[in-house]
Amino acid sequence: MTQDHLRTALLEAKVPRYTSYPPATRFSGAIGPDIHAGWLAALPPEEGISLYAHVPFCRRLCWFCACRTQGTANAAPLTRFLETLAAEAALVARAVGRAQKVAALHLGGGTPTLLTPEQIDRMGQLLRENFDLSACDDISVEIDPCELDAARLDALVAFGLSRASIGVQDIDPVVQNAIGRHQSAEITAEAVAGLRARGIGSVNFDLLYGLPYQTEARLAATLDAVIAHRPDRIALYGYAHVPWMARRQKLIPEDALPDPEARIALADLARARLIGSGYVPVGIDHYALPGDEMARAAQSGTLRRNFQGYTTDRAATLVALGPSAISRLPQGYAQNASATRDWTATVEAGVLPTARGYALTAQDRLAADAIERVMCDGTVDFTALGRAHGLPTTALTTRAATALAELPGMGTLAAGVLQLADMRYARLMAARIDPGMAGDTGRFSMAS
Ligand SMILES: C[S@@+](CC[C@H](N)C(=O)[O-])C[C@H]1O[C@@H](n2cnc3c(N)ncnc32)[C@H](O)[C@@H]1O
Ligand code: SF4
Repeated sequence: MTQDHLRTALLEAKVPRYTSYPPATRFSGAIGPDIHAGWLAALPPEEGISLYAHVPFCRRLCWFCACRTQGTANAAPLTRFLETLAAEAALVARAVGRAQKVAALHLGGGTPTLLTPEQIDRMGQLLRENFDLSACDDISVEIDPCELDAARLDALVAFGLSRASIGVQDIDPVVQNAIGRHQSAEITAEAVAGLRARGIGSVNFDLLYGLPYQTEARLAATLDAVIAHRPDRIALYGYAHVPWMARRQKLIPEDALPDPEARIALADLARARLIGSGYVPVGIDHYALPGDEMARAAQSGTLRRNFQGYTTDRAATLVALGPSAISRLPQGYAQNASATRDWTATVEAGVLPTARGYALTAQDRLAADAIERVMCDGTVDFTALGRAHGLPTTALTTRAATALAELPGMGTLAAGVLQLADMRYARLMAARIDPGMAGDTGRFSMAS
């Protein structure tokens, strides 16, 4: 076995992104509204939760996008959507038995900035009616700069916005043409200026590598343009080409996609450029300025991973509203009906729209913690983990040792501590120590 085996594994492996353990491919219909309601009822009254609202609409449907969203030409469907969201929030509050304290709130999608200023106000009102947001000082939103104006920005600030994430992907016109997303540099700059003028202190940019026609020169130009804005955080995701799940990706010219070797070269180039510009690498695909909370979390081993990627949010519970949204409770995961019409019909019938999920066992929690540390830090202290869970870690360490024996160069395991040689092996190692991977029938994206 040589380093070549490791490179081949990295080039060929298709593995989960581990934004949850177990991955959503292992959820089942065994978890429904009653079980979910029971989990919500057991929430400790003093616990500050994390709250997520999924807005599943976009004006444009970018061809690369694998997010759960649908197109709409106007704001009309959003009116019914918001009233259904209000009804779902009320169902959750009734199951909890009170307006639960919220420590962090995230609006994602889709495109939350499709909401008109009045609809943004309504969103704030419906959430405040059903949750206690009085101590929530972390409110973030995903922004499509093409769907933003001064009135929306003002409404978001009045809503309490503290952090914004802006979708950029790639600035090159040839790449933008091939992914069905046109966005001028001026539009992106206006969004950043509008946020900063209103005192929003934390701005993240989303970028992608591995896009069609993306060359090292094109990605370097995108990075230079992005770095010039000095965003606090940059998420540089590897483009996940999964047309069997995201059917609009069939419009992506596959013969123009960089091959796995080229993908790795793109990721390496970006990493060197971002580190050279003063950014701290965070996990497998994020970068942050040294003073940023995420950079500090990465350095102190307190980084967390959730459905949005990496986060500094430490809440044990994530309550998620909207079609396809996934809640994480101490007892397990509960996912809402994916189709907006199913979600709407269930909520309008007065029932929590839970369609699937997963009840965690003690062994699952142990594996989840180990995999989260691999994905966040690239290191796991199995002895400390076993002590914290009161469980043996022999099965996990044996799988890690086998992976290291089969793929030398991936890292070391000594005195019960696994240490990856490089964060690029994190998904590979996570899949190797994942006890359920062998039986998973999901088709995943490339590990590189
Ligand atoms: C839900 S989108 C929201 C962004 C917002 N609607 C916009 O367009 O600016 C969040 C991010 O997911 C990432 N994303 C979407 N599809 C992806 C894919 N196929 N592979 C990797 N990342 C993807 C993109 O970087 C995108 O900015
Ligand atoms: S990238 Fe944003 S705007 Fe484009 S389809 Fe996805 S969610 Fe919608």
